[in-house]
Amino acid sequence: MSEETTVLAEEKDQSAEPQKWQPSILAILCNWCSYAGADLAGSARMQYPETVRIVRVPCSGRTDPMFVLKGFQRGFDGVMVLGCHPGDCHYAKGNYYARRRIALTQDLLKSLGIAPERFHFEWVSASEGNRFAALINEFTHKLEELGPFDGVA
Ligand code: FES
Repeated sequence: MSEETTVLAEEKDQSAEPQKWQPSILAILCNWCSYAGADLAGSARMQYPETVRIVRVPCSGRTDPMFVLKGFQRGFDGVMVLGCHPGDCHYAKGNYYARRRIALTQDLLKSLGIAPERFHFEWVSASEGNRFAALINEFTHKLEELGPFDGVA
């Protein structure tokens, strides 16, 4: 590489704008509805931030509050759990059990000094790819307002 090329490369690096921070999201999705909804959003090329990491569970009822805490421990800025709509759970009542744990999870987060707004629970069916993308976008905006998660207070 010539000296001139090296200088140009260095100038280019300095003029490059710093990347805008985007919140990282851990999304825990039930296999039968919400994961299929996320898959539909992907295959239909719907726009949502690429900073989402998906973990598939058999049913939202399988989501232990410790999964949520582990997400924050690993440095995610927000955690969401998505399950089948009421009455659509493939294991009959799993999503109702999940819903009951939400209050417990939010109390747990509060007691650890983590803003409960960093956690979100919703229903998404297999045909709701657009809803999945919209929820991710809304949650991302909320987390942008809250700022980066800086650990437990
Ligand atoms: S199978 Fe989807 S919430 Fe139970």
